[in-house]
Formats: sequence, C-alpha cells, structure tokens
Amino acid sequence: MMKFESEFEQEVYEGLTATNKYLSSKWLYDEAGSKIFQQIMQLPEYYPTRCEYQIFAQRDLATMLDIDDRGVDIIELGAGDGLKTKLLLKKLSELGTKFSYRPIDISNDILRELKESIKNELPTVTVSPLVGKYFSVLDDIKSHDTRPKVILFLGSNIGNLLHPKAIDFLSQLAASMNTDDKAMIGFDLKKDPSTILAAYDDESKVTARFNKNLLQRINNELGANFNLDKFTYYPVYNPETGTCLSYLVSTMAQTVTIPKLNMRVMLSQWETIHTEISQKYTHQVINWLLSESQLQAIDYVTDDKGWFAEYIIEKA
Ligand code: TRP
Repeated sequence: MMKFESEFEQEVYEGLTATNKYLSSKWLYDEAGSKIFQQIMQLPEYYPTRCEYQIFAQRDLATMLDIDDRGVDIIELGAGDGLKTKLLLKKLSELGTKFSYRPIDISNDILRELKESIKNELPTVTVSPLVGKYFSVLDDIKSHDTRPKVILFLGSNIGNLLHPKAIDFLSQLAASMNTDDKAMIGFDLKKDPSTILAAYDDESKVTARFNKNLLQRINNELGANFNLDKFTYYPVYNPETGTCLSYLVSTMAQTVTIPKLNMRVMLSQWETIHTEISQKYTHQVINWLLSESQLQAIDYVTDDKGWFAEYIIEKA
C-alpha cells in the first residue's frame, strides 16, 4: 500500500498507472496555471467567458432571482476572479436587496484575495468566505440557514463532468437546498463545432502551454523529469455527444521518473494522457439532467449569440 502525502500525489499516481492515462483537470490551476488560464480567457477563440460576462452585464439576473425582503445569501462554488459575480453583487446593492456573499473554495489564499478585492470595489458588500469542499460546506450551512440562498456555479464548470457524474453532482446540490433556495448554473451550449474546437485549440498555443504546465507542475512538486517538448496537445470535439476532450500525447517512446512517488512512467509513442472534459449542452439535455437530479428550471437567459446559457433552478 503506497502512502501519499497529498491528494495531488495520490491522483497523479492513480492517473499515470491507469490503463488509459489521465490527470484530473483540477490540478491545472497552480499559480502558473492560473496565470495561463487568465490568458486563455483573453483569447479571441475562447468565447465562454465573454459570453457569460455579457449575460451578467446585460441581463437582469438580480431581478430574475426574485428575492423577497428576507434577503438572500449568495453562495458561490469556486471563487475564481469574481469578475462576473461582482456585476451581480453590484446590481443587488443598487436594488437595495439585503444580502451577503459567501464564496466557497478549498484555497484560503484565493478567498482572502477575493474578499480584499470586493472590499475595495464594493465596500458595502458583506463577504463571508467559506473554506472547504463544496458539499461538506453546503451540508453544514443547510441546517442553520436563516433566509433563502442562491448557489452560483458559473463558467460551465459543470461541463467538467460527464452526464452520470453531473447528475451525481446536481443531486448532491439538490439535497443541500431548501425549497425556497435557488441555484444559478452556467451551461456552454452546442454551436458550430469548429467554433467549439477552436476555443480549445487556439492559434497562439496558449491552451497547449496550459495543459503542458500540468507536467511542469509534476516536475516542480514531485521532482519528475517530464520533457514538455516530447508531448503535443490535442483536443477533440464530438458534435454528436457535445463532448470536448483534451489530451497530451507522447510524441515518442519515453520513460519518466517521479522520485517523490517512487515510480517510473513508461509511455509508448502516441500514448495519450487525458486532461479535461468540456461538455457542451442543448436545452433538452440540460432539462433532462435537472429532472434526473430532482431539480427544475425556473428560467434561463443567453448571450446575444445564444452560445451560453445561465439557468435559474429550484428543487422539483
Ligand atoms: N474547463 C474550462 C473549459 O472547459 C477551462 C479550459 C479552457 C480548459 N481550455 C482548456 C481546460 C483546455 C483544459 C484544457 O472551458
């Protein structure tokens, strides 16, 4: 039995000893990775962030949430840079709504930074961060809720999960909600397949750098000797299923050592390491996922192009 010092070590070990190798996308976001992701969000090809930002800037989500005089706790799963959320918080303040903002994240540092930036930009907003894993925190607060909550899950992060896992996730979300709570979830919609593929295969190769950085992270943190030049980044999009998959492909037979895990990884030429799932949706599939999870849509809005949808959801 291997003993691991961290979840990262354990998951790298499991992923690289699997028959079809994989590395979970959640490890892409170390300090360097988060910086590269900021660049991805600026890419001309990467439309999701801009589309969702437009929804937050131009649609009246605050009114659609239909908050009564008890007020509301805005809970956000995954803090991010808060650019979109700040637009919503600003609107709620302008409407005179009583609310607090409670981002949940496993990283205390990220929460501290977010709290600081909201204090500067929106000084009247109460920010009460929650440190921990989404569902342990949500289960924890469910029993002592004093007023309705709205749970935000933005950026089509739901798309990191294939449908069965998305249903598990949404069912857990439903279980953590009371009847007068709502969820607001961003879904990236099906569109011209070449538009979708281009978003993951940008001209300037920033996305390739983003994925290869995961190998660099294993070098940095676990003492491995991945040579990033011996891998190529390759995304695929299936317009029938709506699933976009990202891979790192070994361009030659090679052996990599990972001293901290006491392991050697053998890769044959053209062997793949799967890094990410980015599922794209139709409204029909979204409604099916919700109904399988004891949830239902109240309403949704899209950007002008109809590329991205923000769903407002309640318990069924
Ligand atoms: N998971 C996000 C998305 O699907 C972020 C992302 C963008 C990403 N490009 C990527 C993740 C490439 C892995 C590989 O849009």
